[in-house]
Amino acid sequence: MKKIAKLIAYLAIIVVVLIVVSVSYITLALPNVGSPENIKVELIPQRIEHGKYLANHVVLCVDCHSKRDWSKLAGPIDSTSLGGGGEVFDKGVGLPGEVHVPNITPFNLSAWTDGELFRTITTGERKDGTAIFPLMPWRYYSKLSREDIYDIIAYIRTLKPIKTTYPKSKLDFPLNIIVHTLPQKAELGTKPNPSDTLKYGAYMVQSCACKECHSQDDKGTLLPGLEFAGGRAFKMNGSTVRSANITADKTTGIGNWTKQMFIARFKAFSNPKEASKVNAGDFQTVMPWWSYSGMSENELSAIYAYLKTIKPIHNQVVKFSGS
Ligand code: HEC
Ligand code: HEC
Repeated sequence: MKKIAKLIAYLAIIVVVLIVVSVSYITLALPNVGSPENIKVELIPQRIEHGKYLANHVVLCVDCHSKRDWSKLAGPIDSTSLGGGGEVFDKGVGLPGEVHVPNITPFNLSAWTDGELFRTITTGERKDGTAIFPLMPWRYYSKLSREDIYDIIAYIRTLKPIKTTYPKSKLDFPLNIIVHTLPQKAELGTKPNPSDTLKYGAYMVQSCACKECHSQDDKGTLLPGLEFAGGRAFKMNGSTVRSANITADKTTGIGNWTKQMFIARFKAFSNPKEASKVNAGDFQTVMPWWSYSGMSENELSAIYAYLKTIKPIHNQVVKFSGS
């Protein structure tokens, strides 16, 4: 009997040691996507201008990294807070932890090299080697073209410095361990020629990360076979909004929408000053309408054309419930 007890005790010690060693390895050695590149992004007007367009209307760095007025429909941006961060994602929206959106103006990022920024945006590994929770869609940015990322970096270097700091994000166990394993080496792509409408539309959809919000997930992994079919739930202040089915299904998706209808839906949000007030229980949405409305008609057309080629999925979504 004594022998068996001893053996069990040894085994227990071995198991504990193994757990400690693997957790230490994961938290100390990961992420490891390689050193930041030694690059220098030229701050030329063309780059800054295109980066401004991308960051404000396509990849939406600014939409997320600014204060939003959630008392109005679709939360227009507070235009005095561009890049200043400050939004919080916590248990109130169903996140197991508390994630603060940081400041990305030069006030916070002036000590970061272009290589460190490039690595952060395309792999999810920060300057200090820690991992960024993939609420920031770097998994999508990792497939963009080098030139587009350079343009974005050039633009955020020119943001007006805003003096804000926020607490470090905290994730609950085991997400606080898992998050270390998520950053991946980038697999950069090439930007197709706009005349190649479908490929260009696919690239735009990748840049906007439409798929992330418009697919249901299980702990961050998209449910296979239901991509773009909507139904992902976002909790907001007591109500729930679910993303729409944007596959070409005729009854439950956008199969009956014309290109004009599609573009008009976005362009209806061109003037954030017209944003209507939202009272408790009223329809509210996280779809970044205000930011996307600034996308060019050509690019929205390409997105529409691409979405039309996705396999139609029949999935009826109840978009909003007030409680
Ligand atoms: C959907 C929201 C969202 C979008 C879009 C987004 N981010 Fe982020 N970003 C975050 C969050 C949240 C964090 C912090 C996550 C954490 O603490 O784990 C973050 C972290 C960062 C950091 C690290 C800053 C620091 O002090 O550690 C940088 C740099 C950054 N983002 C730049 C960008 C750029 C550039 C873009 C556009 C290409 C972008 N982000 C798009 C939400 C977003
Ligand atoms: C942050 C999450 C989020 C992102 C990113 C996002 N959407 Fe949405 N989208 C939603 C939600 C939630 C709704 C449902 C509520 C609404 O209509 O506003 C929606 C609604 C829509 C609708 C309206 C469909 C209908 O039946 O009325 C269209 C069209 C749409 N999204 C297209 C897109 C496209 C295209 C992209 C990428 C360019 C995109 N969305 C990116 C969350 C998102």
